[in-house]
Amino acid sequence: MGTGVGFGKVILFNEHFVVYGLPAIVSAIGRNTTALVERENGIGTGIDDHRAETPGYKAEKFREQKESLEQMIKFMKVDVEHNHFKITLAGDLIAASGVGASAASCAAIARAFSDELGLKYTDEQVNQAAFEGEKGYHGTPSGIDNTAATYGGLIWYKREGTSQMMDRMKLRNPVEIVMGNTGIVADTKVVVAGVKERKEKAADKYAQIFKAATELVQEARKQLTDMDLPKLGVSMNKNHELLQQIGVSSDELDALVGVARDNGALGAKMTGTGRGGYIVALTPGRELQERVALEIERKGFQALRTTI
Ligand code: MEV
Repeated sequence: MGTGVGFGKVILFNEHFVVYGLPAIVSAIGRNTTALVERENGIGTGIDDHRAETPGYKAEKFREQKESLEQMIKFMKVDVEHNHFKITLAGDLIAASGVGASAASCAAIARAFSDELGLKYTDEQVNQAAFEGEKGYHGTPSGIDNTAATYGGLIWYKREGTSQMMDRMKLRNPVEIVMGNTGIVADTKVVVAGVKERKEKAADKYAQIFKAATELVQEARKQLTDMDLPKLGVSMNKNHELLQQIGVSSDELDALVGVARDNGALGAKMTGTGRGGYIVALTPGRELQERVALEIERKGFQALRTTI
């Protein structure tokens, strides 16, 4: 029997831009997916998925999950011709768009196989295996989600060609955030492809937006290290605007961002793929966090209270 864990994440700055080599900032959110790998009679693999979900998420991702597992099995050279492995997924990370659910499950599965087969994977190898798994979900992932799922913590991330650069960042204290769930399942492949198409059609406009996103994330890095939360909030709002401009937000996301800001959040933005999934609101202090979370819940949406 082998066990493994993968961390859930929140992208604080520059999702989508990161696909094109711009830096991004991502944090773990203190919610995990766990995987248990057990040998059974027969051959092949089977997944028993006990994760709580946004309704429809698992059904929608079923085919991609299968493809992802096949890619990982191939990468890790697991012998499924002579063995059968049952994989049980669980943990307190909800299976939903925007919190890195697919990447967390990939990292957890890679660690569980490493444990079961005595592969002694380093974090780097877990990250590589999870990256292969992410290809089953995303097609061409930037690698930010699997990196956050593998290492946890707060990370400055940049993709450089085929290689990935990460820099661990330190916060003086944990900061409360609220994540609001639209309840809509997003298809990352489709949303990422949409950006590519629009970018090709309006190269000049996109060049300007990309320049602004590059400058913004550099400022945000400094604001995070200086713990200048009011300015960080303003930067998150600006990042949301840039994401709106590249067409990845939605009415539901904009509405949740509005609820968070109207109730005192220092800043709020969509996070992850967009077109559904989650928003993240900067709400330092338990009181502000609770106020924003309750208001999101009062409007009929799920709120996740956590810290970066
Ligand atoms: C999805 O969590 C983040 C995206 O930037 C895709 C990626 O980086 O692979 C939308």
